[in-house]
Amino acid sequence: MKYDFETVHKRFHTGSGKWREMLKYGVKESDDVIPFSVADMEFVTPPEIVEALKHELDTSIMGYENPTPEYLSAVCNWMKSRRNWDASPEWILPSAGVVDAFFEAVKTFTHEGDGVMLMTPVYHPMYMAVNFTGRKLVSNPLINTGTRYEIDFADMERKASDSNTKMLILCSPHNPVGRVWTRDELTRIGEICLRNDVLVVSDEIHFDLIMPGHVHTVFASISEPFAQNCLVMTAPSKTFNIAGLQTSNIFIPNSKLREKFLASLKLSNPNPKCNVLGYAASKAAYESCGEWLDECLSVIDANRRTITDFMARELPAMKVHDLEGTYLLWLDLRGLGLDYRELERVNREEARLFFDEGYIFGEQGECFERWNLACPTRYIHEALARMKECYRRHMK
Ligand SMILES: Cc1ncc(COP(=O)(O)O)c(C=O)c1O
Repeated sequence: MKYDFETVHKRFHTGSGKWREMLKYGVKESDDVIPFSVADMEFVTPPEIVEALKHELDTSIMGYENPTPEYLSAVCNWMKSRRNWDASPEWILPSAGVVDAFFEAVKTFTHEGDGVMLMTPVYHPMYMAVNFTGRKLVSNPLINTGTRYEIDFADMERKASDSNTKMLILCSPHNPVGRVWTRDELTRIGEICLRNDVLVVSDEIHFDLIMPGHVHTVFASISEPFAQNCLVMTAPSKTFNIAGLQTSNIFIPNSKLREKFLASLKLSNPNPKCNVLGYAASKAAYESCGEWLDECLSVIDANRRTITDFMARELPAMKVHDLEGTYLLWLDLRGLGLDYRELERVNREEARLFFDEGYIFGEQGECFERWNLACPTRYIHEALARMKECYRRHMK
């Protein structure tokens, strides 16, 4: 390996959201609880990004900043070379974050009482974007076939054909179930939405985090009609572990939708600020960090294999879902026979492991855990040893 993915960095006393979250539950540093929750990585920033940031600090004035043509080219070149998508720089609207952007999209393109469809279980802020804005949640439950989820297209078509349903927020790849939707699945989704005049907000923030053997298709790249009926939300933040720099790229190929989104943005955020360091880091990431990403993906995949093999051998009642994309493994612990609140307690207090509880993604997630694999492999080994010791005591 050219890059370091194995040094352990203790972040307990930093501002890290993942580590500080544990304080709310009374966890102390001496408890030695390992967090596998919030979706950022325990890996240091790629050195190419650090160098670019140093250069920026040495040479630039930290004034109000807009994306430069060079920045936009770097983003579009990455889309072409990595995602085989011909995106145009003028489609891009910068945003501090994808969550901000999908909240804004809900407010811009739907009215109170309108239906917004989510494929559940799903990333919890998507529920908030629907519920906090007075929209109606239209749930399209995914079908769990054992260790993989499928889409219930008949249910999707039925719910999309209700004239009150105006939008689908698509999570692609899907957090937390780890699916990379195939081109065929995305085509069926897109056709249902076109037929029923449902706008697609495609959150593709995990689109670079694709496991070997799987291919991510950008929703807008499938056809011109799809491109004209969607917003594609991306960022380098998950890919290169720079979420703290708050720079994301919202692609809106349809000029009318784009203008409407911009106009609405100006009302809720009249003077949006952009992060000069975020642009410098993102440009360096897209221009020079492809090799870092490839190595990073191989570490995540190795962590996935370690867990899958261990569970099959030592704790076969626990089901590990296939990880096709994201670095978030979906673990079905119903085989332990514990109530989901008790499972949370057992993991945190007895196994001393802090996952994202499956129930926060919807009630289908009860007794599941979402396990963040973007960490040094020694954390994975330690967690597995703790789980084995603890779960065997609880097995009925
Ligand atoms: C599907 C999905 N969308 C959005 C985000 C967060 O986006 P941002 O930090 O750009 O608001 C996450 C973070 O985990 C995510 O998983």
